[in-house]
Amino acid sequence: MSLSVDSVDIKKKIENCKTLQEVEVIRLEYLGKKGLIPSEMKLLSQLSIEQKKIKGQQLNKLKTFIEDAVNDHKILIENKKLEEKLKNESVDVTLPHNEEVTGKIHPISQTIFSIIEIFGNLNYSVEAGPDIESDFNNFSALNIPPHHPAREMQDTFYVNNANGEDNVLRTHTSPVQVRTMLKSKPPIKIIVPGRTYRSDSDSTHTPMFHQVEGLLVNKDATMADLKSTLILFLKEFFEIDNLKYRFRPSYFPFTEPSAEMDVAYTKKNNVLKIGEGDDWLEILGCGMVNPKVLENCNIDSSVYQGFAFGMGIERLSMLKYGITDMRGLFDLNLKWLDHYGFSPLDLKTRSEI
Ligand code: DAH
Repeated sequence: MSLSVDSVDIKKKIENCKTLQEVEVIRLEYLGKKGLIPSEMKLLSQLSIEQKKIKGQQLNKLKTFIEDAVNDHKILIENKKLEEKLKNESVDVTLPHNEEVTGKIHPISQTIFSIIEIFGNLNYSVEAGPDIESDFNNFSALNIPPHHPAREMQDTFYVNNANGEDNVLRTHTSPVQVRTMLKSKPPIKIIVPGRTYRSDSDSTHTPMFHQVEGLLVNKDATMADLKSTLILFLKEFFEIDNLKYRFRPSYFPFTEPSAEMDVAYTKKNNVLKIGEGDDWLEILGCGMVNPKVLENCNIDSSVYQGFAFGMGIERLSMLKYGITDMRGLFDLNLKWLDHYGFSPLDLKTRSEI
């Protein structure tokens, strides 16, 4: 008692199918309700017990064989389809790009890239911290105790915490100094570009803005090192060899002594020129790390000393790229970005782009 079909032939038929629909037609031909296998199964009742057993086994074997062949071939067709799809969708990244459909890098990002490049060449590494900070990291550890007037100066956004402790949206990037000193031993040499927040909004202030912090801690850092580092940075950043600058004494609770650095500028026909002239523009705050801050961060201030600095990225960006209205930086206006933005495919960060 044998079957009138040959499993090898069926397999060939299945493998010759080019589409899933063709496979389905063959599957129905053999396994469908009115297909060969179910029809043969129905006839089993007419057979003797012995024959029923033999033919039943044959039919079941054939059924499994066809099911496997169908499934295998379906997978093969699907894989081929996917391969072709991927081939068609692949992008040749070496092709010249189309300016019209390429997005632009925002001047703030470009400025951050530039800053990282310059300090990277001086062996500074980049650190980051969270936007929501503890009161300790943002204030207390930086020698700004509760009720200190410096807290008022920074118009803080407070974030209520479930355990009753106040968190804040960090008002400056300085708390990352604290985080870094708490987690690593000197020598430390870092910059921290990032977002900062103050409850301040007018034509020259936005509630969210960007700063870059710098911190160096070792056994022999001096104010002279701080000054030469900052001068070198600004000359590189603005690409000016003869930069006219001055350091003014200032006050920050976390540095002692503290200073602010101004650069000279001229403004003719509404065009700002950095580096020369008789007018001054404040560009950053800096100083020698206050020993109290080192101690708050478990660093022995009788062995280690350091310098720190902080500057506003929006201002640096506006001065370097000739952006006159700060609001443009945050308007999300595509025309504005097309004008002031930078090509993502140009790896140079210099202004000759
Ligand atoms: N954190 C200061 C601010 O937001 C800026 C600053 C000044 C940072 C002096 C420093 C520094 O690290 O030494 O106004």
